[in-house]
Amino acid sequence: MSQQHLAVVILAAGQGTRMKSSTPKVMHEIAGLPLIGHALATAQALDAEYVIPVIRHEKELIGEYISGFYPSALIAEQDAVPGTGRAVECALAALPADFDGAIVVTSGDVPLLNVATIEAMLSAHRAGDFAATVLTTFLDDPTGYGRILRSNDGEFIEIVEQRDAKPAQLEIDEVNAGVYVFDAKKLRGALAKIGSHNAQGEKYLTDAASELLAEGEKVQAIAVEDFWLVAGINDRVQLSEVAKELNFRICEAWQKAGVSIQDPATTWIDVTVQIGEDASILAGTQLKGSTIIGQHATVGPEVFAVDMLIGAGASIVKSHATGSTIGAGATVGPFAFIRPATNLGSDGKIGAFVETKNAIIGAGSKVPHLSYVGDAEIGTDSNIGAGTIFANYDGVNKHRSQIGSQVRTGSHNVFVAPIKIEDGAYTAAGTVVRKDVAAGDLAMNIAPQRNLAGWVLANRPGTKAAEAATAAQQAKS
Ligand code: UD1
Ligand code: CA
Repeated sequence: MSQQHLAVVILAAGQGTRMKSSTPKVMHEIAGLPLIGHALATAQALDAEYVIPVIRHEKELIGEYISGFYPSALIAEQDAVPGTGRAVECALAALPADFDGAIVVTSGDVPLLNVATIEAMLSAHRAGDFAATVLTTFLDDPTGYGRILRSNDGEFIEIVEQRDAKPAQLEIDEVNAGVYVFDAKKLRGALAKIGSHNAQGEKYLTDAASELLAEGEKVQAIAVEDFWLVAGINDRVQLSEVAKELNFRICEAWQKAGVSIQDPATTWIDVTVQIGEDASILAGTQLKGSTIIGQHATVGPEVFAVDMLIGAGASIVKSHATGSTIGAGATVGPFAFIRPATNLGSDGKIGAFVETKNAIIGAGSKVPHLSYVGDAEIGTDSNIGAGTIFANYDGVNKHRSQIGSQVRTGSHNVFVAPIKIEDGAYTAAGTVVRKDVAAGDLAMNIAPQRNLAGWVLANRPGTKAAEAATAAQQAKS
């Protein structure tokens, strides 16, 4: 059945001047994907034969993103003729000439549009044998959108752009959502006939709907109640408003899936994140990228996590973490800085004011306080003393340190890499470890302590320290 053929056109060739940005509008991100990524994901879920993004401004950058995200998309390029109508004409040129079926048109700047809405439009379109179906919504403030003109009996007449509208038409609060279904063949014919006699001198896609009507075809406009689904982004104010709404919806979906989110207003979760049941996300937390959080884990308050794997029952508090793995039941923070390729084993600990990078810390091992662990491997159930530095950089190259299992290192150590400390070894407080330590040995290189008797009274007379020392001496005698 030819009616079942489906192509989706995504308009993304506009300049997006209202963003005032060197980044093209559709590449601005919300919830971890550029705007065009959201539109592509929706198109992909529709399972169309052809998905055709139309690009022009910054076409290399946008084209590269599209090819990476959706390799089978058929990228079309708009020529110098401006307007949404021309953009669709260029998309149709990329389709096989005999393509016969429905064309869904969406915009790269309408990120919340979902599959259910398009599917509902498609069935209404097909059921009534329409040439065009226009999606609309009602807005308290319709400024900037095209207005929907209807006859007295409610039939669609035409779409008038803000800039072309008469004052009375500007009062209309039903707006064009910029989402359409067209019959492919009829759309080709209509686009060939429309001009650009309007305030912007552009070839408007909106005129194709009234053109089809004038040709005696059936055109309908159907309204969607949830206006966020069709919110378009033209400037950075709208970008943050839509991002906030999307985030609220993402949080709500996770809450309904069994995740506790203490404060959705201050919690930001990318669409790409996965969270297990009974996990708790506390206020001020941002979960980004490919982050996966296990069941019963607690994340937050105030955790910034990018591309993190956080195991079941793990806990991470007030920390910044990227590209790393936290094992089941492990604890992190507060104030930890987890840099890429850290792998903390199950029930391990990375404590307060600890920075890690490219470090494997085995199950049950702990780095509790004030340390830097870089380019290191630590076995299981070892304890690294407070204030330890893994000195991995000799000024030219980075080297690795290897610490075994059941090792106990003293406070304020420096491990000068490359170095190896074998299983069950100890190091004394203040040791600078430059030589390997064999299993079960104690390493120490502390200089003998000398106390210079009476130094303070002789060299700092009259100070508070001297007074305290004198008082202490008198009390003893
Ligand atoms: C458009 C509609 C308006 C509707 C609104 C909904 C037209 C003439 N107007 O207005 O009725 O209420 O969307 O959000 O269609 N684009 C191209 N090539 C171009 C121009 C634009 O591909 O030459 C793309 C843009 O990249 C964007 C989309 O089309 O993704 C819409 O363009 P935009 O300039 O944002 O149109 P609006 O003024 O919002
Ligand atoms: Ca727009």
